[in-house]
Amino acid sequence: MWEIRGGIQPMRVAICPGSFDPITMGHLDIITRACKLFDKVIVLVSDNPDKNATFTVEQKLDFIDRATAHLPEVESDYTSGLLADYMRDKNACAIVKGLRAISDFEYEFQMALANRKLNPDAETVFLTTQGENMYLSSSLVRQIAGLGGDISGFVPEVIQKDIEQALKK
Ligand code: PNS
Repeated sequence: MWEIRGGIQPMRVAICPGSFDPITMGHLDIITRACKLFDKVIVLVSDNPDKNATFTVEQKLDFIDRATAHLPEVESDYTSGLLADYMRDKNACAIVKGLRAISDFEYEFQMALANRKLNPDAETVFLTTQGENMYLSSSLVRQIAGLGGDISGFVPEVIQKDIEQALKK
């Protein structure tokens, strides 16, 4: 809680949900910018039924923790349930998602509307990605690292070697 103009304001908690398979520089940029807008940011590993995960939940959380160790507002978590329910449990006021291109929009718009239907308090805030991350995705990182390519600049430096080693065939 914090005080402004004599009134007590609740802590503003945001959720950054995703598959994070693994976390990329694009994710880290959105998380870092969310920290400037909210008091606390929960980076939430969730299941996307349309995707087969490469990394385990434990590995994903470890990568997130190491990549965000310099951001005191951030904590990581996992849920196997609905994001809308998790938001209610944590008293969170917003979902923060990054938008890379128009092609992301339809899918994200659908999820934002569905989440608000499930939880009328679930607002989704979209942050536009930085230009240099427009093309970046976890699947691209997995593909490049799997073929022995250089993923520096694509993923946070502290986890780069571990990702390369895990994916090298
Ligand atoms: O990084 P992704 O794969 O685009 O993230 C999608 C994710 C994991 C955020 C989404 O699938 C999700 O919210 N999963 C949790 C279960 C849920 O609430 N599903 C309904 C979404 S409207």
